[in-house]
Amino acid sequence: METSEAKTFLDDVINGLSSAQKQLSPKYFYDEFGAEIFERICTTPEYYPTRTETMILRNNVSEIAQRIGPNATLIEYGSGALEKVKIILEALESPNALVPLDISKEQLMVAAKKIRTEFPHLNVFPISGDFTKPVKLPKELLNAEKQVAFFPGSTIGNFEKEDAIDFLKSVRATVGENGLMLIGVDLQKNRDTILKAYDDEAGVTSEFNKNILIRINRELGGNFNLNKFEHVVTYNEEHHRVEMHLMSLAVQTVCIAGINFHFDLHETIHTENCYKYTHQSLSRLVEAAGFFPADFWTDSRNLFTVVLLTSKFRQNF
Ligand code: TRP
Repeated sequence: METSEAKTFLDDVINGLSSAQKQLSPKYFYDEFGAEIFERICTTPEYYPTRTETMILRNNVSEIAQRIGPNATLIEYGSGALEKVKIILEALESPNALVPLDISKEQLMVAAKKIRTEFPHLNVFPISGDFTKPVKLPKELLNAEKQVAFFPGSTIGNFEKEDAIDFLKSVRATVGENGLMLIGVDLQKNRDTILKAYDDEAGVTSEFNKNILIRINRELGGNFNLNKFEHVVTYNEEHHRVEMHLMSLAVQTVCIAGINFHFDLHETIHTENCYKYTHQSLSRLVEAAGFFPADFWTDSRNLFTVVLLTSKFRQNF
């Protein structure tokens, strides 16, 4: 990490661990190792979202491609391994460009290189960084015919409501009046299925959650003892969200960059929320940001949905 990034990381960690409910931002999960562990979560038997979303995309790709039309520029927010966007790219008529945005630079560069060889005629402009901050598109793309934001993986569920609306508004500004957004969202369902998805038998999600402590130890000189923290997942029925925490298994003090942080027994660090939506609550959310949900595609068990959004002011596209 660059010095300024390391400084922000340290400031964020100090602030987060100083609040009454200790917390850390989920964006810090994704260093090179975190990105790798995340790819493994996606293949665990319990984690149904990736498989289900991929299937929805495959089953409906010709309709999706037809809706998008020719010469589209795709901007993928949090592009990861770039697997899902390939399904769409293969079906699109002469796609113009792909702009993958991701916080994990190492993974982004590897994935971008791979996709360039698979789609030699496609312009690929990878941009690494925090995609919740405004994105500056390469100038070649500013006058592109049709911009399509692609936001799969139910990442919208990791935002608080207000932040989700702000983010969607900024995406709408990026893609413009004629732009579209294709978004994948996990749906509300029985809590057992949801909880298992975030607490797999093999412990991959636990490893992912704890990677944030490993990063603090390595990059900020922390001394977290990983055996003294446990991965804990709860489902908050009132807010329809999964909460991921790291729970202290002892009364202990952890030192980071010379600062001590006290932990009571069973005190937790809150690391992430994953909100679950219904078609209705999702519609309300996107409409608050000036989008209109034009098409919904869902699996037969109603686990997950992929939605195509148009600008609210241009419903008949
Ligand atoms: N956004 C996805 C979800 O909420 C993927 C994800 C983000 C995730 N953080 C995670 C999955 C932590 C498992 C654990 O499901």
